[in-house]
Amino acid sequence: MNVLVLGSGGREHALAWKLSQSPDVETVFCNPGNGGIYGQKMQRLCMDSDSYEELAEFALANNVGLTVVGPEKALCDGIVDRFREKGLVIFGPDKYAAQLEGSKWFAKEFMRRHGIPTAAATKYDDLDAAVAHIRNAGAPIVVKADGLAAGKGVTVALTEDEAIAAVTDSLGGAFGGAGAEVVLEEYLEGEEASILAFVDHSTIKPLASSQDHKRLKENDSGPNTGGMGAYSPAPVVSSEIWKQVHNQVLTPFLNGCRTDNLDYRGIIYAGLMLTADGPKVLEFNVRFGDPEAQTVLMRMQSDLTEAMLLTVNNRLGEYEFSWSDLSSVCVVMVSDGYPGAYEKNRIISGIDDAEALGVNVFHAGTESNGDTVTTAGGRVLGVTASGATISETIELVYAAVDKIYWDGMYYRHDIAHKAIARV
Ligand code: AMP
Ligand code: GLY
Repeated sequence: MNVLVLGSGGREHALAWKLSQSPDVETVFCNPGNGGIYGQKMQRLCMDSDSYEELAEFALANNVGLTVVGPEKALCDGIVDRFREKGLVIFGPDKYAAQLEGSKWFAKEFMRRHGIPTAAATKYDDLDAAVAHIRNAGAPIVVKADGLAAGKGVTVALTEDEAIAAVTDSLGGAFGGAGAEVVLEEYLEGEEASILAFVDHSTIKPLASSQDHKRLKENDSGPNTGGMGAYSPAPVVSSEIWKQVHNQVLTPFLNGCRTDNLDYRGIIYAGLMLTADGPKVLEFNVRFGDPEAQTVLMRMQSDLTEAMLLTVNNRLGEYEFSWSDLSSVCVVMVSDGYPGAYEKNRIISGIDDAEALGVNVFHAGTESNGDTVTTAGGRVLGVTASGATISETIELVYAAVDKIYWDGMYYRHDIAHKAIARV
């Protein structure tokens, strides 16, 4: 059987790497993939990522027994529905259920209906009403474009003026239709953690905990990014917190899907704020996190292909995941200037030397031509190591990062440091 992975980031490289380890898998195709997709069992395709019909035709013609979607856009566009209509096996929620990520308000109403703890929120499409709400509630307050805004739709406003500016931008069209409605949300304080879980119609099974670093700069400062690094496990998720997450988030999530008749057979990612009042859900994503996936998949000993196929067939209950006791840390190396403008086409050296230390270098924004690898995006590489302790793993991952060079690279030097304090 062959597998098709859709997407081009570090998450997709890690998924392809893990899926290709299954003995039943002959080739993992990845579209459009990146410079890291090559080798005995991985092959890059170059089809239009938005042409779901063409992708389905490819899958039908090439013995693709499983399709895995990396980014949310295709899921929210309904790729799962299209593939299933053609009899294809695809891992992920259908278009209706994908609104859990595609609309903040859909997710909020789902959570309210099913008693999942989350921040209080109100939705507006009218500027004057939104401004009145902000003046009345005061700052800090969180402004969210309702729809998918490529990770840019959330403003944690520390002042009323900042909140009003964010609402004005969003309702004024800064995110197109995705921002035509805004959700104003209570500001929550605490530490964040990500819980990813496989879910089918009768079972939900969490994966190992993880935590990403969203901010560009050290000490979690600077602008938000797609993710500058991650680690797993996240020691902040103690056994007590696991219990709360299980009882207050995961079980009500599954029951909610059943009550609402959602066709959810895929992965759910709950972004949590661990507040003094217990865990609260900041957002749902309907796909793996990037770079959380890199760290979680490094620790997964189970056969990912088998787990996904059982999930799609509503047999997740039969599967037991197994995890390595090792820690894992991913440091994302980016092009200087990201998340703003940056240069491309810089030659990258030292990837082989880094891998010789026993780490995985997952590619994201890269192109390869023969032995030459060049930069082609903001997030370029995700150097991912595992080790017996978080401290050892941090040492190894940064020794590997030190081997890699290109003109205009940038990375954070403190990834996973806050985990040390907790163990
Ligand atoms: P989201 O895409 O909804 O997860 O928001 C992106 C980031 O904004 C989160 O990872 C948090 O750091 C922050 N955030 C979102 N909602 C809230 C909230 N209600 N209170 C405080 N911070 C938030
Ligand atoms: N790392 C955050 C995300 O994938 O949404």
